[in-house]
Amino acid sequence: MALKVRFKKSGRTVEWSDIYANLLELAEDNDIEIESECEAGVCGTCKTRLISGRVDMELTDGLEPEDEEENMILPCVAVPVTDIVLDA
Ligand code: FES
Repeated sequence: MALKVRFKKSGRTVEWSDIYANLLELAEDNDIEIESECEAGVCGTCKTRLISGRVDMELTDGLEPEDEEENMILPCVAVPVTDIVLDA
């Protein structure tokens, strides 16, 4: 069964598919706005809070230690491992 990704602020729930390289692509494809710049996990612009669930991130260079405490993730390099809820 496909994993579900809920974008809380946008009030949308969409299904994850492996055709997407990362959560930013999934958001863009569904007209959900997440600001981005480097799209490579470095600048931190896309930083979004993970409200629940787990993701895998290729890189976390764009996150500060306090971001990790606040459960921030970088959608441009993250893929969901479970159903997730994002603050976006
Ligand atoms: S857009 Fe730069 S870290 Fe995601």
